[in-house]
Amino acid sequence: MSQHVAIVGATGAVGTEFIKLLDARDYPLKSLKLLASARSAGQKIEFKGEELVVEELTTESFKGVDLALFSAGGSRSKEFAPHAVDSGALVIDNSSAFRMEENVPLVVPEVNPEAAKTHQGLIANPNCSTIQMVVALNPIHQVATIKRVVVSTYQAVSGAGAAGMQELIDQVKAYAAGEALEAKAFPVQIAFNVLPHIDVFQENGYTKEEMKMINETRKIMSVPDMQITANCVRVPVLRSHSEMVNVETEKKLTVPQARKLFENAPGIVVKDSHENGGYPLPLEVSGTFDTYIGRIREDLSTENGLAFWVVADQLFKGAALNAVQIAEYLNAQ
Ligand SMILES: NC(=O)c1ccc[n+]([C@@H]2O[C@H](COP(=O)([O-])OP(=O)(O)OC[C@H]3O[C@@H](n4cnc5c(N)ncnc54)[C@H](OP(=O)(O)O)[C@@H]3O)[C@@H](O)[C@H]2O)c1
Repeated sequence: MSQHVAIVGATGAVGTEFIKLLDARDYPLKSLKLLASARSAGQKIEFKGEELVVEELTTESFKGVDLALFSAGGSRSKEFAPHAVDSGALVIDNSSAFRMEENVPLVVPEVNPEAAKTHQGLIANPNCSTIQMVVALNPIHQVATIKRVVVSTYQAVSGAGAAGMQELIDQVKAYAAGEALEAKAFPVQIAFNVLPHIDVFQENGYTKEEMKMINETRKIMSVPDMQITANCVRVPVLRSHSEMVNVETEKKLTVPQARKLFENAPGIVVKDSHENGGYPLPLEVSGTFDTYIGRIREDLSTENGLAFWVVADQLFKGAALNAVQIAEYLNAQ
């Protein structure tokens, strides 16, 4: 059945991808409402040959809306999502505002689609780095039970929104022109640099992004005691996050067995040959829907260890696409 859909944060990095995806996937729409801040109200955005006018987000924005896709930051979600739910909309929220709340399902359709059905008006979309990691972990865990995960990320600047992307471009231009570089979206210069710092530092020395990967993975996979450690790093890549993942399993898996599990899993493409470029790269994965896996090998430091490289477009699979897949899944029930 077609729906009245609203995108909150329609002018942002994720919101822009929502608009593209609803069109590309032919999402059944009765109407599409684009919401953003007062700064963008009146801006025109083309959708299916029509010009839609961006409206300012208010508590009254959700009358008659069936599905509200939120991607305007945590404080907007906290303030406005309850109004959307009260108006009868299903909210799928991209921010971290509600992810760890007990009555809010945290869903990756390839891993725990059934959880979506338990919603009470609000479903949380997980953190972008977490989504692509659990897509990769799940087939291994189902067969061999993962005991421990060590993940190091290489995250694109668009993970920090449209301003993050613009800052890398501006810094590269300034560098080439011999001008001074300005850092606003990131704590220090990102061009030609690598920052082991995403989101704010926590008391335990981890960053919030790292703790999101740990806590959200346990919730999505329903393994509250899974041992996980995460190292989250920002790299000067425009789009698509990469991750090196090392896992220790209860049951031994050989490399060919692991490869087969990945190949047969939903949403995964294996690209793993020992030649130049025979592995997934953020540049080529950008604009695609799947999670790509390569560099599959034994982790020689432990008895039942595997190592693999995971790349996905975090604006699609890590954000907008995952949310649209959740909505499509519920529509198909
Ligand atoms: N980027 C990613 O890879 C990614 C991945 C997963 C989840 N997320 C989450 O998605 C959300 C959006 O991220 P983004 O990267 O798309 O950020 P972004 O590019 O900075 O976009 C932010 C959006 O929120 C809107 N907004 C800001 N303040 C507002 C206000 N007071 N009222 C109404 N709208 C307001 C902006 O509208 P204006 O243009 O009018 O300012 C813009 O449309 C965040 O919660 C983020 O954590 C992002």
